[in-house]
Amino acid sequence: MSMTLSYDRLSEEEKHRRFLDRIEKGEKIEADDWMPDDYRQTLIKLISMHGISEIMGALPEKEWVPKAPSLRRKLGIMAKVQDEMGHGQLLLRVAEDLMKPYGKTREEIMQDLFRGDLKFHNVFHMPAPTWGDAGLIGWLVDGAAIITQTNMLKASYGPYARALKRICAEEVFHAQHGEAIILALAEGTDAQRAMIQDAIDRWWESLLMFFGPATSTTTGTSKQDITIKYKIRTKTNEQLRQDFLDKYIPRVLSLGLTIPDETLRYDKTEEKWVYKQPDWSEFKNIVRNNGPKSKDRLNLRINAYENNAWVREALSPDEAVV
Ligand SMILES: [Fe+2]
Ligand SMILES: [Fe+2]
Repeated sequence: MSMTLSYDRLSEEEKHRRFLDRIEKGEKIEADDWMPDDYRQTLIKLISMHGISEIMGALPEKEWVPKAPSLRRKLGIMAKVQDEMGHGQLLLRVAEDLMKPYGKTREEIMQDLFRGDLKFHNVFHMPAPTWGDAGLIGWLVDGAAIITQTNMLKASYGPYARALKRICAEEVFHAQHGEAIILALAEGTDAQRAMIQDAIDRWWESLLMFFGPATSTTTGTSKQDITIKYKIRTKTNEQLRQDFLDKYIPRVLSLGLTIPDETLRYDKTEEKWVYKQPDWSEFKNIVRNNGPKSKDRLNLRINAYENNAWVREALSPDEAVV
């Protein structure tokens, strides 16, 4: 009998039960499938923020295209900037499909960013004044992104999982590109080594912040709990940060560089890194667009969006000329 019953006629509780059952079995939820509102809203927020961060992340690196020290490095960084813009486009398409029931469009995601209603990743509010920063962003910021994104490769939402598969493959190239820059500088002159040490000293807190606070201060169910409950990801912010520390601390130290935290140590009994907490109130301040480069980058994005309006118009189906 249930076979003949249309899905639409099921009660909300039954739809919800079947939805959780599908997720539990490892099935993928697709754009047109029924999904609970908090699942949809969590995904919209997560994917819009991810997509916009890809685009905002291209800005500090774009600054380095004209200044890259060789043609080879210039080509590498240009390809990375193009990839990041592509990641942004791919993700905004995924977010747009999810927003359809609310009648919201991709254009509105951009307006949310411009108004300050949509946050982008803390790391992209920071300055990148030296070539050491350009290398460090590829090596450690993309390295951190690989850790959070591979944790969502099996996300219950099919379109996001598939987008991430392609994105992660490209992020690996970005991390290798960054590592190559850092290795070259590490083998270079004293001034070059000092340049990467300075970049690490300035970026360390931001890298710890990248994964978000360990516990949410919001009341009720935290965002972390919802994404884990709905199998969008499996690890908590702290577990992801520990994975990052496990992977990169030995690499940083092996280059003869130091980490600006005299309290940093590995606790063998607890099997985790003990580190000095970054200033989480400063983190909140930064993502509310009060970071050192927040306003500049937003203005750059607004200008680019306005200057490129003619491209969107030319490509719009409404403008098609027979
Ligand atoms: Fe990316
Ligand atoms: Fe990247």
